Amino acid sequence: MIVSPSILSADFGCLERDIKMLQESEAGWIHCDVMDGVFVPNISFGFPVIKAVSALTDKPLDVHLMIVDPGRYVGAVRDCGASIMNVHQEACTHLHRTVQAIKDAGMKAAVTLNPATPVGTLEDIIGELDMVLLMSVNPGFGGQKFIEHTLEKTRRLRKLIDESGSKALIEIDGGVNLTTGPMLAEAGADVLVAGNAVFAAPDPKSVIAQLAAL
Ligand code: DX5
Ligand code: ZN
Repeated sequence: MIVSPSILSADFGCLERDIKMLQESEAGWIHCDVMDGVFVPNISFGFPVIKAVSALTDKPLDVHLMIVDPGRYVGAVRDCGASIMNVHQEACTHLHRTVQAIKDAGMKAAVTLNPATPVGTLEDIIGELDMVLLMSVNPGFGGQKFIEHTLEKTRRLRKLIDESGSKALIEIDGGVNLTTGPMLAEAGADVLVAGNAVFAAPDPKSVIAQLAAL
């Protein structure tokens, strides 16, 4: 299992310390949550912070844009050092064009679905995607409760990917912990994002290692 800890739950006053901890951990990637206060009811951080994180680690940055019309920022995200750019299906009018632009910029293209957006909406683009990110909470905040329906949705996405011959990975974001993680692994997830479960734990590296072993 690839673990992508979300720095939304890190201590921003000690960000360098927290990134160093992740660098020494079994985290595969580092998940960066960008929020614009319009697409979601919260504002987090933007490009200067991602650039600073990039300078502190060689782990791939998994950037999750919770912003309207994310296609405007493909170049900016690449210039921050991102390896993976996640855009919401609900925020892109021309999703195919945005996905191509992300790939042309040399990044992995991932499309994110809110809890109420059906997996079938990706049927005609799944072959183009490097990853699908299923939100297992309504985006905007860390530390929310896992929406159980995501397990069944993950199984349906696994079936769509396997039947289409797509190579897309399945990433799950929201309320992932040592209880929900094993259920998601069984349902077919490839990547788990975890914010609160990692950063609120007494031993964050051990939680990351336990998720990575799933
Ligand atoms: C939610 C963000 C998540 C969040 C996950 O809008 O996209 O990445 O940080 O946090 P936890 O793991 O605490 O639910
Ligand atoms: Zn996220």
